[in-house]
Amino acid sequence: MKNISKALIVCIFLFSALTLTAQITDTVWISSLDLSLATTGWGEKGINRSCMGNPIRLNGKEYKRGFGTHAPSLLYIKLDGYVQRFHATVGVDDEEKNSTGSVTFSIYGDGELLCKTSTLVSGGVSEEINTNIVGIDTLLLAVDGTADGINYDHADWANAYILVKKGRPFSISRPMEPAYILTPRAPATPRINGPKIYGTRPGHDFIYRIPATGNKPMKFSVKGLPKGLTVNKTTGIITGKTAESGRFETIITVKNDVGETSRKFTIVAGKQIALTPPLGWNSWNCFACAIDQEKVMAAADAMEKSGLADYGWSYINIDDCWMIQSESDDPVVGGAPRDENSNMRTNKKFPDIKALTDYIHSKGLKAGIYSGPGPRTCAGYTACYQHEDADALQFAKWGFDYLKYDWCDYERIAKDHSLPELKKPYIVMRDALEKCGRDIVYSLCQYGMGDVWRWGAEVGGNCWRTTGDITDNWNSVEAIGFGQAGLEYYSGPGHWNDPDMLVVGKVGWGPDLHPTNLSPNEQYTHISLWALLNSPLLIGCDMTQLDDFTFSLLTNSEVLDINQDPLGMQAARISKEEGLEIWARNLEDGSKAVGLFNRGMRQEQIVLKRSILDIPGDYIVRDVWKQEDIGSLGDSYAAVVPAHGVKLLRIYKQ
Ligand code: GLA
Repeated sequence: MKNISKALIVCIFLFSALTLTAQITDTVWISSLDLSLATTGWGEKGINRSCMGNPIRLNGKEYKRGFGTHAPSLLYIKLDGYVQRFHATVGVDDEEKNSTGSVTFSIYGDGELLCKTSTLVSGGVSEEINTNIVGIDTLLLAVDGTADGINYDHADWANAYILVKKGRPFSISRPMEPAYILTPRAPATPRINGPKIYGTRPGHDFIYRIPATGNKPMKFSVKGLPKGLTVNKTTGIITGKTAESGRFETIITVKNDVGETSRKFTIVAGKQIALTPPLGWNSWNCFACAIDQEKVMAAADAMEKSGLADYGWSYINIDDCWMIQSESDDPVVGGAPRDENSNMRTNKKFPDIKALTDYIHSKGLKAGIYSGPGPRTCAGYTACYQHEDADALQFAKWGFDYLKYDWCDYERIAKDHSLPELKKPYIVMRDALEKCGRDIVYSLCQYGMGDVWRWGAEVGGNCWRTTGDITDNWNSVEAIGFGQAGLEYYSGPGHWNDPDMLVVGKVGWGPDLHPTNLSPNEQYTHISLWALLNSPLLIGCDMTQLDDFTFSLLTNSEVLDINQDPLGMQAARISKEEGLEIWARNLEDGSKAVGLFNRGMRQEQIVLKRSILDIPGDYIVRDVWKQEDIGSLGDSYAAVVPAHGVKLLRIYKQ
């Protein structure tokens, strides 16, 4: 008996000791968590592997365990409170040793930054992380790209583990606020939306659909139209050609069963078009090369039926992959790139491109096309090199109203990136467009090389991309959007900075689409900032699958009014304190549009001081998204702004 109880005591002691030890030293490997809940910029979510499925290697050393990912990447882990430390060795995987990958690794505990590495680069050193995480409820492991974009950013959390005292950490999806709609419904009475000023060139086809919300049917009339232009009373589509040049102050009137409204609409017939930033849709961010003629027609239908066209959205732009890919064996896209007269041919996914533009125009909408100065486009399809005049004429004959002209493959033609070489191909196409006899918005796409904003207007650009390609995550939208500070001097009527297309709604760059990875707050930031920046607004989602929230983001008439303001003054950053930024711009009516942005991970109060706006007298503060006055400005106005969120205001005189 004695022996038995002795043994029992020993067992209990051993058991307790073991349990205690296990409690203190339990090691939970990050790679044992459900990594499918992580987000990554590219490739696999590597379980004990790199994002390309190779063994994890940093600085020549191979690691058995770890999480291989690609910037930007987020992994949220729920801890049980009894967790002690997080450990990892981090860096850019050796599979990109000779590339230009560069990343930072950050760890957040309940929204607070706990530690951040220096910038770690391809072939460079790795860093050890060993952080105390006692008392933290939610841990976030984040990898961010740097200013050079996310190419080659293969990032490893090697040998990554959590030391646990009790309980078991588990990964969770990114915590996100539910989608909340701020935009009020449009009233039943008629309201005229869209730009207040519009440019055309004398002698060219004119097409403009008056955007108006309210009960349908409506009756439209316009007083003071220049000779040659007429309005269709039932559709509100103005067409024709004006031979005269000059400034025509017209008055549009719209009536329906419950009311009538009128608004001034200035038509300027002269040299300049795109007097306000183009509003429309582009096929790339949703379909990329999975685009075809039916999808473009469906987009035009959706723009009309959803009601987007009633807010001024008007361009339906085809991006890459409509032409022949001569190297391809696929009979759908392969074949001879040009016909016997050297005219560019479409591939079989676009059987009748003229019928397509006619269809788009029949709705009063406009059509856009894509090409580039090189022999090929970015996706390897036929482009304009050495056929510029003929191609510009062809685009005009087909009835296109917008040309996105993408540098890409011209890289192998250009001698270097000197200014004359960067400008050259854009001048060639500008001259070709000038002779083509049609108003075609000329959109330069060369990702900002040679500070294109300084000379984009000089080479005829109506807008120019200031950055590389956007993707649907905070890292990309934040870097691009807030990176526009200082470019405000170069944007104005007829020539706009273009920080790339919108990534709200269902996007995907290919046949498979997914809801944007931006949270609702981030989407408000994206649209507010792009509106303040005078950016061309090109919807990048599948408009046939618009949900109510996305629709509300795209149809706030007061937000769009900021973007379309006739003064065309791009917002400047007027204050920056850590992640809290204030951006402001003057509007034509003497008011100011102001964005209070919180780039941080926690809700913050942002104070707008009257002194930085330099406005004497009594001013009213208006919440633009809610379309509601909040009160008078006083010496300052303070708003609580959610993480990654915005408060968009208009400050106007009483
Ligand atoms: C580049 C552009 C994109 C898109 C693709 C098409 O990447 O920046 O916007 O047009 O080419 O291949």
